Amino acid sequence: MRVLSGIQPTGRFHWGNYFGAIQQYIALQNNDQAFYFIADLHALTTIRDPAVLKEYTWEAAVDLLALGLDPAQASLFVQSDVPEISELTWLLMTVTQMHLLEKCHAYKDKKSKGVAADAGLFTYPVLMAADILLYDSDLVPVGTDQVQHIEVTRDLAQRFNHLYDTEVFVLPKPRVLDDSAKVPGIDGEKMSKSYGNTIELFMPEKKLKKKINSIKTDSKSMEDVKDPDSCPVFALYRLFADATQQDALAQKYQAGGMGYGDAKKQVLEASLEYFSEARDRREKLEADPDYIQDVLKQGAQKARVKGKEVLDRARAACGLGHLSTSK
Ligand code: ADP
Ligand code: TRP
Repeated sequence: MRVLSGIQPTGRFHWGNYFGAIQQYIALQNNDQAFYFIADLHALTTIRDPAVLKEYTWEAAVDLLALGLDPAQASLFVQSDVPEISELTWLLMTVTQMHLLEKCHAYKDKKSKGVAADAGLFTYPVLMAADILLYDSDLVPVGTDQVQHIEVTRDLAQRFNHLYDTEVFVLPKPRVLDDSAKVPGIDGEKMSKSYGNTIELFMPEKKLKKKINSIKTDSKSMEDVKDPDSCPVFALYRLFADATQQDALAQKYQAGGMGYGDAKKQVLEASLEYFSEARDRREKLEADPDYIQDVLKQGAQKARVKGKEVLDRARAACGLGHLSTSK
């Protein structure tokens, strides 16, 4: 069983990314084979500053390793270090019907807002299909927003297999990540880079404190009875606390006499403790860029061995590669 997933380096990772995705990638890393990559080619559809893209790609690698991605168990690589991806994207593009892409959310949303979309955004799902099919992936852990892309991937794989009367591509299955883990941002809406409401994973402590203090709450005073279930501070606390600790804080909310400042302090302390090992690991990793390079290099090498095998199969199936045949 091969597990594969990718994450875009479009910013520094935040609590939503960790609890909604990264934590679960890491939990799946001890499958026979796990491939995780940083989707820098996809990020090109949004980031136009080369220095920024480079920085986010690098920091993404450091973050993933600090959070527990173990290169002895899972291959970690950068998407653009596997050039086979681009060729497979083209092969798949030739079997992609326009209507399949026209109904994909990312493109449809932009179009409905009247924003001009480029061909990169339009064909984004084909690149994603290539990411998945290139390694004979069986299982792809993703958030619900990405399930449509896995369906497109299956469609393209089936269509290619059918058109060329072959079994070149393995049909992948999505594994939908727990949606209940939808993490609220500091304004109470879903935490997302695009809403500017994130709490980044590895902020310096002082900044983290400031950020947590800026979480929006209602205007109840210290004495008032408060509702834990509608409070983003409490929702965030739940990410880090066990059931007993959650109950204890909920009781304080319901008893009155506790201000939101106290609850925020508990979130700060609990989050620092929760990520303390990862923070330590990150500091060590930062001091050893050669190690990170090495991990990414070895990850890409492994991915390319598998990728080349599948690409060769696909090329042969559609009549490419005359130099490697004896005719
Ligand atoms: P962002 O919305 O900040 O741009 P991405 O779309 O790059 O984040 O998300 C990467 C992964 O993190 C996806 O699998 C997504 O489902 C997950 N994720 C992002 N934000 C949240 C959140 N607030 N709660 C749960 N999961 C999230
Ligand atoms: N599109 C995914 C996202 O925005 C990232 C991604 C790119 C991906 N290629 C992938 C995820 C292949 C799973 C498999 O979250």
